[in-house]
Amino acid sequence: MATVFPSSSGGKENGAPKPTLLIVDDEDGPRQSLRILFKESYNILTASDGATAIELAKNNHIDVAVLDIRMAGMSGIEVLERLKYVDPSIEVVMMTAFETTDTIRQALRLQACDYINKPFDVATMRAAVSNALQRRTLENEIHNNAEQRQRLLDELQNQKMAEQMSQTRGEIYASIIHDMNGPLTVISGFIQLMSQRIGDSTQLDGEDVQFIKDRLKTITRQVTNCIEISRRYLGFLRRSSSEASMAKVNELLGDLGHLARVHPSLHHNQFAIDLLPTNMAVQVNGTDVIQILFNLTVNAFQCVSAPHSVKVHGAVLNAPLDLTTFKDGSRDRFLNVENFDNTAPLVRLSVSDDGPGIPAETLPKIFQPFFTTKGPTQGTGLGLNIVQRLVKEARGALHVHTEIGKGTTFNIYLAAFAVGP
Ligand SMILES: Nc1ncnc2c1ncn2[C@@H]1O[C@H](COP(=O)(O)OP(=O)(O)OP(=O)(O)O)[C@@H](O)[C@H]1O
Ligand SMILES: [Mg+2]
Repeated sequence: MATVFPSSSGGKENGAPKPTLLIVDDEDGPRQSLRILFKESYNILTASDGATAIELAKNNHIDVAVLDIRMAGMSGIEVLERLKYVDPSIEVVMMTAFETTDTIRQALRLQACDYINKPFDVATMRAAVSNALQRRTLENEIHNNAEQRQRLLDELQNQKMAEQMSQTRGEIYASIIHDMNGPLTVISGFIQLMSQRIGDSTQLDGEDVQFIKDRLKTITRQVTNCIEISRRYLGFLRRSSSEASMAKVNELLGDLGHLARVHPSLHHNQFAIDLLPTNMAVQVNGTDVIQILFNLTVNAFQCVSAPHSVKVHGAVLNAPLDLTTFKDGSRDRFLNVENFDNTAPLVRLSVSDDGPGIPAETLPKIFQPFFTTKGPTQGTGLGLNIVQRLVKEARGALHVHTEIGKGTTFNIYLAAFAVGP
């Protein structure tokens, strides 16, 4: 049975709405004394059984509930669970009589915020309800702040996108890396916190599980942010790149420079780009060429941790290649020779490093998806697989030449045509 007791001031005091307190107890005595105790400061709802309490929670905005753990019919624990299901932000104070610590622990695991013994003394009960209300207000504030922050971030992101419409593709790529860095740093920090918390334990207690659940929520949010960032940028890049499937090589090399110079793997490596002596264009999606060269450049940066030199070099070839010389060996590997558009003039774009080189037994594997010699947190082994696919789509050819102790060069060949300066 439910009873609603609106306060004499119509639920408002000094203009501010009064909080609502739900009292659930199957005994009339405690129900009435709690009502009298709190009626000045709260709108009171009472219920004498679980089902009524759930109904009240569905139809009213309840701030705090005081709930007897032992009731006929639905137990207090079950009511607690269902109340939290209806509205996870309701703060619940449990009243206990002779419960075992197990029951109390169960209540706390289900997010009851406090428990007090029955018969209760007035001061303890007042303090418990007031603490619960404070906690509820605080959680609301945190929630509202987080929502407001997200709204502002979205607005900011949209403004940034509008500004970037006028920027070059290279700068947009740099922004993607930059924007992803924030969420990724948070994700990696939270993962570290969780693994520290878990340590060597093989079993987790309730508090640990809650700790991990809370952090997983943040991680999920940050992952969604990353997906959103890439979706927005890619949408923009596709739109602008599909308009022009012809790209000027020296502009692409300039864009690559912007992109590579902000990459964290650049470290203290020397890095230089030689443009074509006379600009040429290729009949390929510009973003694809940048992606090919960018993946090769990052690999070259990462081939050894000691400072070394990486060079991107553009050249124009005025005769078709002699493909009979393109034979795989222990130091050379060729891709897409059979579907290569070998029509002069050609451009050759080379990415070279003076790193350790690639061992003969590794060389045949480097284009396989997920093949990596880097640690699991460092490489996915997808970079060269993407390069291979894009070179094929562009009807280009690829030649990798490597020498142990001397370094590696990846050459990309593409059919080209002359353009103005
Ligand atoms: N310039 C290079 N010098 C030496 N080894 C290289 C070089 N480029 C690629 N490799 C080898 O080829 C492997 C595969 O490269 P790939 O780009 O596909 O993946 P990754 O760089 O390991 O990971 P990801 O690109 O996902 O970060 C590398 O792990 C490395 O062993
Ligand atoms: Mg790579």
